[in-house]
Amino acid sequence: MTTHDWKKSSWHSFPAQQQPNWPTGPVFDDTLKSLSQLPPLVFAGECQTLKASLAEAVEGNAFVLQCGDCAEDFSRCTGPDIRELLKVILQMSVVLAFAGEKKVIKIGRIAGQYAKPRSSDTEIVNGLELPSYRGDMVNSPEPNLESRTPDPRRMLEGYYRSAATLNLVRSFTLGGYAALERVQAWHRASLDALPAGQKYEELVRQIWKTINFMSAIGLDPQHVPQLNQVTLYTSHEALLLDYEQALTRMDSISGGWYDTSGHMLWIGDRTRQLEGAHVEFLRGIQNPLGMKIGPKYDIDDIKRIIERLSPDNEPGRLTLITRFGVHKIEEYLPPLLRELSREGYKVVWSCDPMHGNTYQNQYGQKSRNFEVILQEIRSFYQIHKAEGTVPGGVHLELTGDNVTECTGGSRQLMDQHLHLNYQTNCDPRLNAEQGVELAFELADLLHPHL
Ligand code: PEP
Ligand code: CO
Repeated sequence: MTTHDWKKSSWHSFPAQQQPNWPTGPVFDDTLKSLSQLPPLVFAGECQTLKASLAEAVEGNAFVLQCGDCAEDFSRCTGPDIRELLKVILQMSVVLAFAGEKKVIKIGRIAGQYAKPRSSDTEIVNGLELPSYRGDMVNSPEPNLESRTPDPRRMLEGYYRSAATLNLVRSFTLGGYAALERVQAWHRASLDALPAGQKYEELVRQIWKTINFMSAIGLDPQHVPQLNQVTLYTSHEALLLDYEQALTRMDSISGGWYDTSGHMLWIGDRTRQLEGAHVEFLRGIQNPLGMKIGPKYDIDDIKRIIERLSPDNEPGRLTLITRFGVHKIEEYLPPLLRELSREGYKVVWSCDPMHGNTYQNQYGQKSRNFEVILQEIRSFYQIHKAEGTVPGGVHLELTGDNVTECTGGSRQLMDQHLHLNYQTNCDPRLNAEQGVELAFELADLLHPHL
């Protein structure tokens, strides 16, 4: 089965889950043609560098911090929104690198996270059956038929917004904003009153001491690239296969195929069928891949998918992102770790503590609780320790905005507070404060001397 030739279009011969009912006709065809002629968003060389870094995480020598929106929103593709998300990622990574003493690989759910799998094709709103909202690259969330009808031109819009986002990310990360000397500028005043804010202030002091020490012994911090630039890689769920195919190009240097829509692509828990179109498409591209695994997995199935997606067992190629929920992780993670390490698969193990812990509150909002999220991460670490395997990172839904979508944290947000600033069109995200708090907790887990 695996032996047939791969083409960027070969997925068309396999059943594809979770695809919108795109209207057929010239608009759809012309959109894909335009997309296939537009410049790549990322380069093959960057994907290879990310893969090499991820190989370090396989061994436990680096930590993967993958985070961003559940679904990016076209209307939130603004300078301040992008800057605020970047700030919280920089803050969290400095906490993890300095307090946790680990190299941090930063990957955003950003610049392309515009399409969502849904449990049902349609939903009933006010007695009306409408197509489900599938992300801004497909349709619009307003509950009327016109907004909900999939519009192929949104793929083009998604491409341009991804390009604009990535352009600003590159300017921020390479143009001085991310220099470690600015560690204080990433700080947000609202954190001051919280324990995490005080810890962050202390960290800033220690970093300044280190930078001053470097200067004192004659090392000029201005000339140490690692202190002045960071790399934020992009990632999204490779869901809309027509879009992904249109962005897939052959790298002229290596001769390999790369999906240039983002550095890392992941396959969702709902689309990872062994004989499905998503596995078929992803097996042929050379980007580093992620795969979500929820509690309904079948171990033999997982093994066959791993062999198909990573036939050479190249470290860094595959990140397995487990999302069991706090009540299920102890049942489902240990057998998976045992069986896959017995097979000798070299994968990064990442913990998504979000998707197994969603609940609906009495006001009809979807939420997640900070302490529960943290508890799943703690269990993830404990289980890896017990099994002698390597916990490699976390996968979070997070925003730089001051939203009230997840309960808990040191502000002790409760369900009745969530209406204050509940913004998400999809899943509830940690806000910036909760993100920094989580990073300090994680740093304790990562610390090599504990
Ligand atoms: C997601 O990451 O937003 C998502 C839909 O996850 P999963 O595939 O794990 O359900
Ligand atoms: Co989500």
